[in-house]
Amino acid sequence: TTGSSGGFVLAFLSAFEAGDRVALVSPGYPAYRNILSAVGIQVMDIETGPDTNFQPTPDLLDQALHGSPEPLDGLIIASPSNPTGTMIHTADFKALIGYCQDKGIRLISDEIYHGITYGRSAETVLAHMNDAIIINSFSKYFSMTGWRLGWMVVPEDLIRSIECLAQNLFISPPTLSQRASIKVFDCRKELDGYVARYAENRSLLLEQLPNAGFDKLASADGAFYIYADIANLTNDSQEFCNRMLAETGVAATPGVDFDPGRGHRYMRFSFAGELAVMAEAVDRLGRWRR
Ligand SMILES: Cc1ncc(COP(=O)(O)O)c(C=O)c1O
Repeated sequence: TTGSSGGFVLAFLSAFEAGDRVALVSPGYPAYRNILSAVGIQVMDIETGPDTNFQPTPDLLDQALHGSPEPLDGLIIASPSNPTGTMIHTADFKALIGYCQDKGIRLISDEIYHGITYGRSAETVLAHMNDAIIINSFSKYFSMTGWRLGWMVVPEDLIRSIECLAQNLFISPPTLSQRASIKVFDCRKELDGYVARYAENRSLLLEQLPNAGFDKLASADGAFYIYADIANLTNDSQEFCNRMLAETGVAATPGVDFDPGRGHRYMRFSFAGELAVMAEAVDRLGRWRR
């Protein structure tokens, strides 16, 4: 696929009909919501917080569905997630899979941050069920974002329709990228080196951001993000991030991009850079907040 982004379009068009209902997690990667809406699929928000590691659980799904006459057709999960970096707890992971199997909900697992974790490694949904759609990409662990290359693992019954859709929408992902990506499998040492660098960046920020007033941080189990609750600093994350950028030169993303309802009191830091840059950034933030 042309990145995981191309995979989402193919997954949503092949697995759902216009008017179907798909649940996704808030805060979450905004393109899920935007692509689903663009193709006429209803979005059901599952609001999550630190109590469930910003991840869905069967209880949260039950609460969201309570009293609703319409069935739920799909659920999108990402563990680790963007923007929170959190992972689904092992027990909740199995329970969610069982829940989807029992209720005939098509599970779409965005596994783009697999390979970038700081503790336990991420488990693929494929190990537990074979009618899920798995989406992955060369953009994160493999650091080939601009090459626009991803892949999907799909159940047999969707293969033909995905093939037809792909031929009409994309023809194919770029041949040059496909050839280059074969070589990247020989670069594991270098790629694991990047993950080790993210791990150092993460430790530095988790230790020092609280000194700058950012002290309510999500667990950052994977990916390269730290999601901060900044209700103690602002109730307008967009304005706060604009001001922070103008006054310190440090850029972060306001939570409203990921959570339309509650994002005004959250922001996301990305630490996919050099350690020296992280140290300088957190230093500037500390001086700014003093
Ligand atoms: C969770 C998640 N999924 C998908 C994507 C899109 O990636 P790709 O470059 O593979 O289209 C991103 C990009 O930031 C992401 O964070």
